[in-house]
Amino acid sequence: MKRAGVIGWPVTHSLSPLLHGYWLKQYGIDGEMVRLPAQPGEFTAEIARVRREGFAGVNVTVPHKQAAFAIAGIHDRAAEICGAANLLVFGKDGITGRNTDHIGLFQSLRENLGEDTLAGKTVVLLGAGGAARGALLALDELGVAQIHILNRHQARAETLAHALALKLTARLLPGPLESWAALASQAALLLNTTSAGMADVPSLDLDLTGLPRSAPVCDIVYSPLETELLRSATARGHKTIDGLGMLMHQAVPSFEAFFGVRPSVTSGLRAAMIQALDAT
Ligand code: ATR
Repeated sequence: MKRAGVIGWPVTHSLSPLLHGYWLKQYGIDGEMVRLPAQPGEFTAEIARVRREGFAGVNVTVPHKQAAFAIAGIHDRAAEICGAANLLVFGKDGITGRNTDHIGLFQSLRENLGEDTLAGKTVVLLGAGGAARGALLALDELGVAQIHILNRHQARAETLAHALALKLTARLLPGPLESWAALASQAALLLNTTSAGMADVPSLDLDLTGLPRSAPVCDIVYSPLETELLRSATARGHKTIDGLGMLMHQAVPSFEAFFGVRPSVTSGLRAAMIQALDAT
């Protein structure tokens, strides 16, 4: 039996076992994906244990993504850029650290907006945390020309823009959240990567008045699936993209690495995920 896990703390609510379990069943693969609860001090020992037990690899979630990067001897470009890994693949030659977050957003945006819609355009990205890094990489890969990075604490947006300026082709322009009103009319896409709008975190209360009606609004938050930001965007007639597409697509490379089959993201999978989210 092929085995993989998702390591984190807390990890009880991780949807990875459900996602991978759905595909294991669909493709008739003898395998399992288990939750591996590990507090920060337990990460290294837990990784050693599951390697000994023959696991193919693990998905990594909060708070271990930086530790996962550190434990890996080989990194892909996305992990290097993010300084964090959300996928560890165990091989004969050691541990490879990868980051698939950007692939999830890249595929989700492409699926919803088409191949070249954002090429050469300006995007306003909200947030400057770990999720913003992967999002910047995805936007860069989609050919976006200019990205305004707006964050509650402006200094963090500046640090991020500075850190990635030479690694990406897109022009990165940091600023405070307050500059949204002045920039809204330029945006071909508004993308929220902050945790604002997640269950228990207050929403940003962004006025969408200046945003062109043709510009879609994307939120990487998936719980709730329809955030307040997406609700007000829909009410104003904008196309919206929720965080579930990204979540499902980022799991594709992990599943392929663990179980040897490249799975498809389907409406059936989306329905199963929505059912699970509704039950939590
Ligand atoms: P992640 O890895 O999920 O991005 P993070 O590194 O903790 O998590 O970053 C969270 C992001 O959400 C940050 O951009 C944070 O803004 P600050 O850097 O100014 O703290 C943003 N954020 C969280 N709650 C917010 C709120 N209530 N209003 C505005 N921004 C918020």
